[in-house]
Amino acid sequence: MTQASTKLPDGPGGSFLVRRLRFLQWIFNPFEALEARARRYGDPFIISKNTSPLVVYFSHPKAIEQILTADVQAFEVASGNEILLPLLGSNSLILLDGMKHQRQRKLLMPPFHGDRLRTYGQTICDITNQVISQWQVGKPFSIRTTTQEIAMRVILSTVFGLHEGERYDQLRKLLTNFLDSISSPLSSMLIFFPSLQKDWGAWSPWGRFLGLKQQIDSLLIAEIQSRKNLADSNRDDILSLLIAARDEAGKPMTDEELSDELLTLLFAGHETTASALAWAFYWSDRLPEVKDKLLHELNNLPADADPSVIARLPYLSAVCSETLRIYPIAINPFPRILKVPMEIAGYQFEPGTILLPSIYLTHQREDIYPEPKQFKPERFLQRQFSPYEYFPFGGSNRRCIGAAFALLEMKLVLFTILSQYELKRVGNRSVKPTRRGLTVAPPANMQMVAIERQQQKIPVLAKSS
Ligand code: HEM
Repeated sequence: MTQASTKLPDGPGGSFLVRRLRFLQWIFNPFEALEARARRYGDPFIISKNTSPLVVYFSHPKAIEQILTADVQAFEVASGNEILLPLLGSNSLILLDGMKHQRQRKLLMPPFHGDRLRTYGQTICDITNQVISQWQVGKPFSIRTTTQEIAMRVILSTVFGLHEGERYDQLRKLLTNFLDSISSPLSSMLIFFPSLQKDWGAWSPWGRFLGLKQQIDSLLIAEIQSRKNLADSNRDDILSLLIAARDEAGKPMTDEELSDELLTLLFAGHETTASALAWAFYWSDRLPEVKDKLLHELNNLPADADPSVIARLPYLSAVCSETLRIYPIAINPFPRILKVPMEIAGYQFEPGTILLPSIYLTHQREDIYPEPKQFKPERFLQRQFSPYEYFPFGGSNRRCIGAAFALLEMKLVLFTILSQYELKRVGNRSVKPTRRGLTVAPPANMQMVAIERQQQKIPVLAKSS
């Protein structure tokens, strides 16, 4: 066995001010900042020589595998996500570790898999149709607003079990304002710099944020309590399943746990899917050959195709996979903080070291993805990538619990819209990925126009009666 190096990976030095400037560059241009560092310092690299604890980025599949298959007890995750505490509450799955995390994850997983998942397919298509029925054909609109509206309604319906009514309207408005208040590149700084989190009343950004959070919490607790009082066993939304769920000791989730988990599912599942969808529409318009192949596949669907058939379409699936490869919505999985010494990629790391398997840098490796800057869905038809070469949803015991749900939603929304409309982007300048809260997304102002398809051959799932 070779001796692990006591030398550390390379990385930049610099004063406090220089480090702050680099952090700002990472906030505003995360992909460029990562690539510049990887070019200069290689793989793995550290983000700074002068900071403690050490933060290390990895992009070699062997190192990613080592991290994602190591004993999960060797890492702490919750403390690395602390910036999310004011957003999600202390009971959020994302802010738990150890047994508590395991218990909560077991309760949350079943509604996102198997038969349960399939029951949401028609709802996704119906909601997409409701939202696009508001479009004015030929008039530019923000594609992000559309995908966000769809993703929000899908979560409210499938997770919260809310479809209409006063509480639905109130929550929809509050949740949109709440997430928007931290989504622009500038307002994202509120999350990254706790020193900016000062409550100077309703007019200050943080005061407004806290006010919205309080109103949302009250509405969620009210909804949970009225749902418990009604105890309707016919409901199949995720909240109802969570209210009925019991852990191994027979204990249900508390109202506060339920409320924090609802917000977590909304936060983790709505922005991410909306951004991924906006990118998919961008690519299918930008590359005519992709659009043609996609339409060819949709045109050849059997007349009785249902959501599960659509979810298995090879080219549609490849377009979604490539969308999440080229510009992953999450730059990296949650940071893994070492609790024990560990050797990775020939380096010996001490407890406290923060490990970041970089989704973006791995997805951009020339040796795995030739011409990585080109959008080529065919890659996913030609070979299967390992979960250490391709991991847009992270991995190990923290792998995204909504991965299958998100992919189903992406495919069904793409299908429902593209089977009825051609979407064309306004302007033809290439678009740069932009910071959006903790994620990276297409710019919010990316405009498209919808043109009705002349020969509409794919109406199968278009509208439920
Ligand atoms: C395209 C859409 C999505 C992307 C790219 C995405 C990506 C991710 C990533 C990278 C992680 C961290 C995994 C790790 O650290 O290893 C994660 C965690 C998580 N995601 Fe997603 N996600 C998406 C959609 C969703 C949806 C639809 C839901 C639920 C409705 C969801 C719920 C969660 C939850 C609850 C966690 C925390 C898991 C844990 O801590 O155990 N996500 N997601």
